[in-house]
Amino acid sequence: MNTSGVTLRKPTARDGQSVHQLISRIPELDSNSSYCNLLQCCHFVDTSIIAEKHGNILGFISGYLKPGNHKTLFIWQVAVSSDARNCGLGSQMLQQLLERDEHISVTHLETTITETNNASWALFNRLAKHFDAPLEHSVIFDRITHFNDEHDSELLARIGPLSR
Ligand SMILES: CC(C)(COP(=O)(O)OP(=O)(O)OC[C@H]1O[C@@H](n2cnc3c(N)ncnc32)[C@H](O)[C@@H]1OP(=O)(O)O)[C@@H](O)C(=O)NCCC(=O)NCCS
Repeated sequence: MNTSGVTLRKPTARDGQSVHQLISRIPELDSNSSYCNLLQCCHFVDTSIIAEKHGNILGFISGYLKPGNHKTLFIWQVAVSSDARNCGLGSQMLQQLLERDEHISVTHLETTITETNNASWALFNRLAKHFDAPLEHSVIFDRITHFNDEHDSELLARIGPLSR
């Protein structure tokens, strides 16, 4: 897809349902309630971002500053519509989020990734390279201990300190 004409912006409450539908169409992602997506689009706008073209939402990232450590931006979910992948959109959204004025004092980014999600590893490795920062990872949520054997283990990926 040609990504010219794509706007990157903060979400608003009116985006909640479209975000919910985008995430529902992506099998790799756990879907949340539409109410949860609505809250992300209201209360977490500074740490979330939308990619939109001609009124269609092509991408969404939700995140938050970690409670008790506002120097770490935690990325909750990254969603890019299947027809808009591999065009740099996920990378652009992450970079713009980190470059917002509100995040000037953010030094690290964290997220969790399952071991087999190659696209996600590639996305965050590329981000680490962009900010000239190391990426360290270790299991944070274990398949048996935390997911009752119903979900793959999630690895915590921590990138930083970020160079800007
Ligand atoms: C992960 C995801 C967000 C990446 O978004 P994207 O817009 O396609 O990413 P980009 O185009 O910015 O590409 C970033 C890097 O990932 C690589 N990549 C993209 N898709 C890939 C795939 N399926 N397999 C391996 N690498 C892939 C790109 O080549 C690029 O790496 P490079 O710089 O070394 O060339 C997208 O694939 C997606 O929405 N997947 C489903 C949801 C998901 O798994 N989200 C992440 C977990 S929350």
